[in-house]
Amino acid sequence: MPGIYDEPEFYEAACAYRDVPAEVDALIRWSDKHRDTGAGAFRSVLELAAGPAEHARELARRGLEVTALDLSPAMCARARDLAAAAGLSLTVVEADMRDFSIPRRFDLAITMLNSLCHLLTLDDLLWHLASVARHLTGGGLYIAELAHPADYFTAERRTSSEWSTEVGTGTASVRWGGGTDEIDPITQITREHVSVTYRKRGGPVRTVTDVVPNRFWTATELMAAIRLAGGFTVAARYGDFDNDSPVDAPEAWRMILVLRRE
Ligand SMILES: C[S@@+](CC[C@H](N)C(=O)[O-])C[C@H]1O[C@@H](n2cnc3c(N)ncnc32)[C@H](O)[C@@H]1O
Repeated sequence: MPGIYDEPEFYEAACAYRDVPAEVDALIRWSDKHRDTGAGAFRSVLELAAGPAEHARELARRGLEVTALDLSPAMCARARDLAAAAGLSLTVVEADMRDFSIPRRFDLAITMLNSLCHLLTLDDLLWHLASVARHLTGGGLYIAELAHPADYFTAERRTSSEWSTEVGTGTASVRWGGGTDEIDPITQITREHVSVTYRKRGGPVRTVTDVVPNRFWTATELMAAIRLAGGFTVAARYGDFDNDSPVDAPEAWRMILVLRRE
């Protein structure tokens, strides 16, 4: 049975609620603010667990040299096809973000939409941080967007697990976790039940279901892992893309780490 990451069109429709150009504005704003002043011109970006590479393609559209990496062959093919159709130069690498090797360094690495939830153990996270560090220029940044811990620790979640989207090609009704899905109190992994029903204009209605393991990383675990891995300092922690609110603001709904390569 194909999973949700084998069905890039379904995944894209499900995640179409995001304002990708505005999120890319924030990535560029934070790069200008937090990169070392001596780090040289900002030219290159590596997107990890990129999926269909929405952010990578937007960054390429803005003239940067961009590489997108993902484990899923279907997602890599989709990223290549969409970039080619838009006339964008994008390098796509099929690899595991836990341990990868690309023969160049980047000024910025990014991981969007809580994709670090696919690192299920501390060893996965440490290997990942070491791989990212090896691929960054000195003074370059790693920006990782994660779920906000309030979604796990407070009575009221700050994000929803059920939503609908309208895209040019149709509509999607999505359930991603929530409901009766429970976090394992020892491993902090939730087997999230995912269901995406895509009503493509002029096409059949189809539903893709999947069970996706999601590891919740607390803020303090992440700080400890970053210290243990070495090679990074924490430059900032934001709670959204629009207002640069800190991660501990009452209105914060994402946990966005800005790490600087030492
Ligand atoms: C939630 S999607 C996010 C995609 C993209 N970052 C976005 O913002 O739309 C997670 C992606 O992580 C990829 N993935 C999962 N485990 C991975 C791994 N170990 N290495 C690389 N990619 C991985 C999946 O194939 C999927 O495309």
